[in-house]
Amino acid sequence: MSVSFKGVTKRFGDLIAVKNVNLEIQKGEFFVFLGPSGSGKSTLLRIIAGLEEPDEGEVIIDGKVVNRVDPSKRDIAFVFQNYALYPHMKVYDNIAFPLKMRKYPREEIHTKVLEAAEMLGIRHLLEKYPYQLSGGEQQRVALARAIVRRPKVFLLDEPLSNLDAKLRVRLRFELRKLLHDQLNTTTIYVTHDQAEAMTMADRIAVINKGEVVQVDTPGRLYNNPVNTFVAGFIGTPPMNLLKARLQNGRIQLGRLSIFSPSLGEKKETQDVILGIRPQDVKIGSEEGIKATLLGVEKLGGGVIVHALLEDQEITSYSEQRGLDAKIEGKGHIALLFDGPLYIFDASTDELVKVLTDYKFEVT
Ligand SMILES: Nc1ncnc2c1ncn2[C@@H]1O[C@H](COP(=O)(O)OP(=O)(O)OP(=O)(O)O)[C@@H](O)[C@H]1O
Ligand SMILES: [Mg+2]
Repeated sequence: MSVSFKGVTKRFGDLIAVKNVNLEIQKGEFFVFLGPSGSGKSTLLRIIAGLEEPDEGEVIIDGKVVNRVDPSKRDIAFVFQNYALYPHMKVYDNIAFPLKMRKYPREEIHTKVLEAAEMLGIRHLLEKYPYQLSGGEQQRVALARAIVRRPKVFLLDEPLSNLDAKLRVRLRFELRKLLHDQLNTTTIYVTHDQAEAMTMADRIAVINKGEVVQVDTPGRLYNNPVNTFVAGFIGTPPMNLLKARLQNGRIQLGRLSIFSPSLGEKKETQDVILGIRPQDVKIGSEEGIKATLLGVEKLGGGVIVHALLEDQEITSYSEQRGLDAKIEGKGHIALLFDGPLYIFDASTDELVKVLTDYKFEVT
């Protein structure tokens, strides 16, 4: 089923939790709402489920306005952020419950419960009660209960938040495979974890303060962020965002000068934000832009270097070999920019240009 929002606004008293949201989610799509805490993600999901009523606008499921349709009539499975299991039922019966309600035959219920439990790695817990389980185990039971039946839409609100890192990485892969590749069910998934969003989604809506900032594929969000919010939210470590000025076809950042034919010759000065990903900031041996070394974080596979460039903090991320020799015991290091530069308008935070052909010099 397709799901769309037309001018949807939701207020809680003075607070605007969701502001004029327009979205079209296709049938079979794996769609993610990504945003920081309090941005309105859960509220959007609850509006689709019918647990909150919008103050303005329409919610359309499969071409029909459902604003006044009861939640139970929407054929939607919801895993809440604060999932609640039935405390007096064993795990097996919790998972079987939606099927029993719909009067499935016993044998079929049994097969489906085992299948779901197998996938989520909780087969050994079927005879336990919820109070005997850890938070992560309870969360997996809630997921199993949602996937045993085949609803037309899955709404999942941070369903992996209570799991350890290893399990989270495995399950995000398994969940997408099951919900998207096998069942082909429309799935709307909420998370504040950009890595989860990037790996799972067909498309992502980035939400900030109740508003949809950008809707795009993971690749396009990463390569063409519409503003500094998206640029800083997608990718780890976050994109460097440095204050600079644009004049006469040059970007000036303290003594560092960047020039490019695609910048134009505009005479008047414009305040801009210069964005560059840490992966594109390389550590040179001698040549390069001088910066003061602030510290180093070693991650095993890669290294994050923190430095001060013309009084602004900048980070570099690399898996470069021989890096130690370039930074160890040094107060100063040399930086090289090697990758796209993003120019944002400092007054609106919006992307103006992506530069790929540029040169830099220190004056
Ligand atoms: N029932 C409510 N009454 C009053 N305010 C609410 C209610 N539900 C949500 N809010 C407010 O609306 C805003 C959006 O909340 P929402 O739960 O949608 O955020 P979220 O993006 O899901 O955040 P999180 O990542 O922390 O779960 C928040 O400022 C929140 O305090
Ligand atoms: Mg939430």
